[in-house]
Amino acid sequence: MAEISKNIEQAVALLNQNEVVAIPTETVYGLAANALQPEATERIYTTKNRPSSNPLIMHIKNVEELGKYTKNIPEKALVLAKMFWPGPLTLLLEKKDIVPNSTTSGSQLIALRVPKHPITLKLLNQLDFPLAAPSANPFGYISPTRAEHVQHQIGDKIELILDGGPCEKGLESTIVGFKGTSVIIYRPGYITQEDLQAVVGKNIDVQYKTDQKVVTSGMLPYHYSPNTPLVLIDDESEIISNPKSGLITYGKAELEMEHLINLSPNSSLEEAAQKLYSSLIEMDGMGLDTIYCKKYPNEGLGITLNERLKKAANKIEHLNRT
Ligand code: TXA
Ligand code: MG
Repeated sequence: MAEISKNIEQAVALLNQNEVVAIPTETVYGLAANALQPEATERIYTTKNRPSSNPLIMHIKNVEELGKYTKNIPEKALVLAKMFWPGPLTLLLEKKDIVPNSTTSGSQLIALRVPKHPITLKLLNQLDFPLAAPSANPFGYISPTRAEHVQHQIGDKIELILDGGPCEKGLESTIVGFKGTSVIIYRPGYITQEDLQAVVGKNIDVQYKTDQKVVTSGMLPYHYSPNTPLVLIDDESEIISNPKSGLITYGKAELEMEHLINLSPNSSLEEAAQKLYSSLIEMDGMGLDTIYCKKYPNEGLGITLNERLKKAANKIEHLNRT
């Protein structure tokens, strides 16, 4: 099993040897390696069992590093970076040659962000390279938001998990790209469309709702999925309750069930976001035959929560079809 510790020096040593290390961020835990070394990023793919066609997000230590790795940076990208970094916003920009094609799966665009977690920022400041880091789950499973989740999911395959406590936000970053004067949201995330609009105005397109060509893995038919069948409901009256069903809900829970997690009795979307993945992981370990999950109002962070839940629930449908 992996060691869970706060030992940054050990992480630096491993990363300098092109090894992988699990790191905390404010969104979810990442599985990190030297983004400029194909030998190192290769280990990320094998550890996660992730297809090499799925590119990696690069984590840099500050806004000033942008120019080192990207070119032709649109004005709006710079404005957004200055506004939201460190934080849960990932920008898709034209890469410079220093970024290997293997990090971007051959794309000329690199996804990058400055994560907001003191341990990981400290780590980045002790390295002379940026860190490629996808979420630290096996491909397709729920993203880990605690060091113990990483241990449980891939601890037998890695040496070190840097312990940064529970992730503050609990949902992945928002991924945006730039076309002409528009900002395009490719993956909804913790930063909402309204947050972006407040900074760059109304010119924002959304391209994640389709079943077209896969541009990012957020666009795959299923993702973030527990092994237990997940059923989304609008209302608790839809539940066919039995001793092996569980419910993840928020607000005033009207039903009494043995396996019930209320993510936020006050219906705070931020609180629900922070706890959603850890609650899904917890319920997935209970040996239930169905997890019911209540949908969120389709606005602000609720859009991101619903998108993740829909992808998670799609697994059953998808596996039945293929
Ligand atoms: O919050 C986050 O973004 C977390 C933490 C660890 O930073 N990371 C994360 O990484 O969610 P991952 O690999 O699980 O999701 C990254 C998404 C994938 O859907 C990938 O396809 C997309 O970003 N992506 C990365 N590079 C890309 C590129 N060059 N072009 C298009 N999509 C890209
Ligand atoms: Mg992921």
